[in-house]
Amino acid sequence: MISLSPSSLLSFIFLLFFTTLSLHCLSASAATCHPDDEAGLLAFKSGITADPSGMLSTWKKGTDCCKWNGITCLVDNRVTAISLSGQINNGTTLIHTTLSGTISSSLSKLKYLDGIYLLNLGNISGSFPNFIFQLPNFKYIYIENNKLSGQIPVNIGNLTKLEALSLEGNFFSGRIPSSISELTQLTQLALGGNRLTGTIPASIQRLKNLTLLSFKSNQLSGEIPDFFSGFTNLRILELTQNKFTGKIPVSISALATKLRYLELGHNNLAGPIPDFLGKFHALDTLDLSWNRFAGTVPKSFANLTKIFNLDLSHNLLVDPFPEMHVKGIESLDLSYNRFNLGKIPDWVTSSPIIYSLKLAKCGIKIKLDNWNPTQTYFYDYIDLSENAITGSPVKLLNRTDYLVGFYASGNKLKFNLSSLKIPKTLKYLDISRNLVVGNVPNAIGGLEKLNVSYNHLCGKLPATNFSASSFVGNDCLCGSPLPPCKV
Ligand SMILES: *[C@@H]1O[C@H](CO)[C@@H](O)[C@H](O)[C@H]1NC(C)=O
Ligand SMILES: *[C@@H]1O[C@H](CO)[C@@H](O)[C@H](O)[C@H]1NC(C)=O
Ligand SMILES: *[C@@H]1O[C@H](CO)[C@@H](O)[C@H](O)[C@H]1NC(C)=O
Ligand SMILES: *[C@@H]1O[C@H](CO)[C@@H](O)[C@H](O)[C@H]1NC(C)=O
Ligand SMILES: *[C@@H]1O[C@H](CO)[C@@H](O)[C@H](O)[C@H]1NC(C)=O
Ligand SMILES: *[C@@H]1O[C@H](CO)[C@@H](O)[C@H](O)[C@H]1NC(C)=O
Ligand SMILES: *[C@@H]1O[C@H](CO)[C@@H](O)[C@H](O)[C@H]1NC(C)=O
Ligand SMILES: *[C@@H]1O[C@H](CO)[C@@H](O)[C@H](O)[C@H]1NC(C)=O
Ligand SMILES: *[C@@H]1O[C@H](CO)[C@@H](O)[C@H](O)[C@H]1NC(C)=O
Repeated sequence: MISLSPSSLLSFIFLLFFTTLSLHCLSASAATCHPDDEAGLLAFKSGITADPSGMLSTWKKGTDCCKWNGITCLVDNRVTAISLSGQINNGTTLIHTTLSGTISSSLSKLKYLDGIYLLNLGNISGSFPNFIFQLPNFKYIYIENNKLSGQIPVNIGNLTKLEALSLEGNFFSGRIPSSISELTQLTQLALGGNRLTGTIPASIQRLKNLTLLSFKSNQLSGEIPDFFSGFTNLRILELTQNKFTGKIPVSISALATKLRYLELGHNNLAGPIPDFLGKFHALDTLDLSWNRFAGTVPKSFANLTKIFNLDLSHNLLVDPFPEMHVKGIESLDLSYNRFNLGKIPDWVTSSPIIYSLKLAKCGIKIKLDNWNPTQTYFYDYIDLSENAITGSPVKLLNRTDYLVGFYASGNKLKFNLSSLKIPKTLKYLDISRNLVVGNVPNAIGGLEKLNVSYNHLCGKLPATNFSASSFVGNDCLCGSPLPPCKV
């Protein structure tokens, strides 16, 4: 249940690839590196103000810079890539570390450098590294999860050999320069998690080699351009968390055979969900959540047999919901639409791999004891809030081992809270506004968030740090944070 975003996964794979290359190179050569490379790298090191984990401790003048941590040499022992990551896997644990400072312009001395990977270092600041404009053969820029700021240079289009440009997770602002359309060799363009404004330049349609296009988590606005017909290689399209308006453009239908991730959630999109999405046979993840999509979910969705993650929550969708033929859904969120599903769909109940189920306010009217999912072992989130569910979750929770959140407020659940097994992994429990009886067990002390308000609980509360609003509205609960018990 590790959730790496598809784009960070790609850059991780790239990093592994280059680490492997650099090992080959080490065993092949004994000579020292070129003095210009050494000087440029030492200048980079002197721009680093803090290196708490000693990432650059092997970078010492007079030693072979090809053997320094994070350095790859190819062709005639010249440095071709710098790869530093703030997430180091030491074999057993993923360790997080940082690097502070700026990127020295002296890196332009590294005449053979064609890739820079500065991933998750947290505290590299300054503007876009302009030294790259002096290295016209540069191919790979991955500067992710740092603190670079300012505008993306308007002449970025000069870097015509670029195959990957990822500036994800920085503080870049301003508009996406239209010259980016000159970068026709790009296979990955990831500018997510910045502060970019304006519209998507129409000229981007020239980037026909793209497999990944991500502008997620910015402040981009306007319509999503109807320019996808030429993007025959696109596998990942992430436009989540912006201010896009209008409809899903028709030309997206051209992506049907290859697209695996279509993420348009958290925008201001409207209109119907297009029928053609049912033809996206390779689709793994579809996120249309938090928009204003209206009407029914197309019947064609029955054909999305490979979909693992489907999030249609927080829209204006109505019944009937199509009977899906998916082999196994992993995560499903249909919450807060205008559905009246009546029951939990069979294709959900029978999923052998589901771990996240969110069906809040879906008009579900079952007795929870009678719901018998094929598999409960992998569950980490279950949200059945605001339905008309009766009975008890005791049997269900007794069958989970990794549950992190259980939300079922605003139902008609009637059970004795003392008999509820609280899995060790549970952090969030909200069963407020039900008909729960009994007293509050000590085991809830280990939770991060709790809400048992507006039930029929009674007795003295165990000592916790939860506020009164977690407990109010019960029959006879007492003790801090509620008024003291009468003796
Ligand atoms: C990896 O790091 C963890 C946490 O710092 C430590 O407990 C463990 O011994 C390390 N493993 C190796 C192989 O160095
Ligand atoms: C980040 O870097 C700045 C200077 O570049 C420094 O003042 C600050 O302490 C660093 N923060 C962290 C968390 O390392
Ligand atoms: C970028 O290219 C333009 C012409 O295409 C040129 O005038 C300009 O000097 C170049 N900028 C840099 C920084 O190389
Ligand atoms: C871009 O596509 C063209 C035509 O398909 C191909 O020749 C070229 O190698 C591709 N470039 C990259 C970097 O994949
Ligand atoms: C599913 O796909 C098949 C073959 O492409 C098609 O005949 C059928 O109409 C589709 N089903 C739905 C419900 O769209
Ligand atoms: C919980 O599960 C255990 C076996 O894992 C079983 O013995 C027990 O009866 C179950 N309790 C409830 C309330 O279902
Ligand atoms: C809840 O269960 C506890 C422990 O089995 C029992 O002592 C208590 O009387 C029950 N409360 C109600 C209201 O049924
Ligand atoms: C409540 O919070 C305080 C301070 O954070 C902590 O010392 C204490 O152990 C907490 N009490 C409980 C019951 O969790
Ligand atoms: C608990 O739930 C009630 C009713 O649903 C709500 O008003 C209250 O703010 C919630 N309190 C907490 C701490 O979540």
